[in-house]
Amino acid sequence: MANLSTTYLGVPLKNPLVVAASSISSYIDRVKMAEDAGAGALVIRSLFEEQIQLDQLHMEDVLSVGSEGYAEATSYFPSVEHGGAKEHLMWVEKTREAVSMPVFASLNAVSPGAWTQYAKQLAETGVDGLEINYYVVPTDPAKTAGDIEQTLYEIVESIKAEVSLPLAVKLSPFYTSPANVVHELEKRGVEAVVLFNRFLQPDIDPELETLVNEMVLSNPIEMKVPLRWIALLYGRTKLDLALNTGVHTGRDVVKGLLAGATVVQVASTLLENGIPYLSTMLLDIQNWMDEKGYDSVDDFRGKLSQKKVDDPFAFERSQYVKLLSSAQ
Ligand SMILES: Cc1cc2nc3c(=O)[nH]c(=O)nc-3n(C[C@H](O)[C@H](O)[C@H](O)COP(=O)(O)O)c2cc1C
Repeated sequence: MANLSTTYLGVPLKNPLVVAASSISSYIDRVKMAEDAGAGALVIRSLFEEQIQLDQLHMEDVLSVGSEGYAEATSYFPSVEHGGAKEHLMWVEKTREAVSMPVFASLNAVSPGAWTQYAKQLAETGVDGLEINYYVVPTDPAKTAGDIEQTLYEIVESIKAEVSLPLAVKLSPFYTSPANVVHELEKRGVEAVVLFNRFLQPDIDPELETLVNEMVLSNPIEMKVPLRWIALLYGRTKLDLALNTGVHTGRDVVKGLLAGATVVQVASTLLENGIPYLSTMLLDIQNWMDEKGYDSVDDFRGKLSQKKVDDPFAFERSQYVKLLSSAQ
């Protein structure tokens, strides 16, 4: 039987199928279910900067009765009775202890100061690595792309100076030059990039004339953007490449590995099909490998990356021009 084992962030995994940061890690029984279904590893949902603020606001609230701030911040986490940073750290520790598969913590903050201290505390929970989710909506017209990227690099440098655990950075797909950002992160000692984060965009209800914010799960078509970038970057960076967004089946995982992914992260498909669906995905990967005669994931990883395909322009602009000009 084909061997699915791989190494991600320097940690041996029994297979490259990783549960992405999501509500799956909000309950220990779900985390155990993921392990039982064969997950290679799991990323715990993020500690958000708003939770860090929540703790600080709570402290201010205790000191100044009547503050509105705490109640407002609590509304970000309505389902979490005690949604502050301390509770999150305790949760990460509890999750780490509940399973033996590798577990990574995630930090989602935007201001440089907040990160270092909490990255350090997350590292102390015993997790195997950290994922940094840098998500800003840049609305200030005076800020350049370079300014925003610089903030990311400063955050990474400050965490790297304090934390020895391996670091993955989960990136947005909206950089002008994703390859350059990956290169700059590599220079700063990051071990992996997660391509890409998926954003929940607000919608508008024309009847009610209101904004609508709802959780919409991903669609398989969304996988094409990360697939292309994994294929473009494979062999051009030493970083591990985690493919994320739109992966729904074992066949999708195979596509990601052929493009050059080190691991593939999934959330929506498990929320849609149930966590035990992981075992179906793994079986499909195994069957495909057996059919094709591959003994290990390394035998075919990156086989269809830009560096290795016959038509290296397939991932670039020429295909776009060709397809659009031949369309009826
Ligand atoms: C319910 C839910 C909660 C999520 N929470 C987090 C989170 O805490 N941190 C994070 O970085 N991503 C979070 N995500 C994003 C996922 O990690 C992932 O990037 C995204 O869902 C795309 O992968 P998918 O197509 O497999 O769903 C969440 C996604 C869902 C559906």
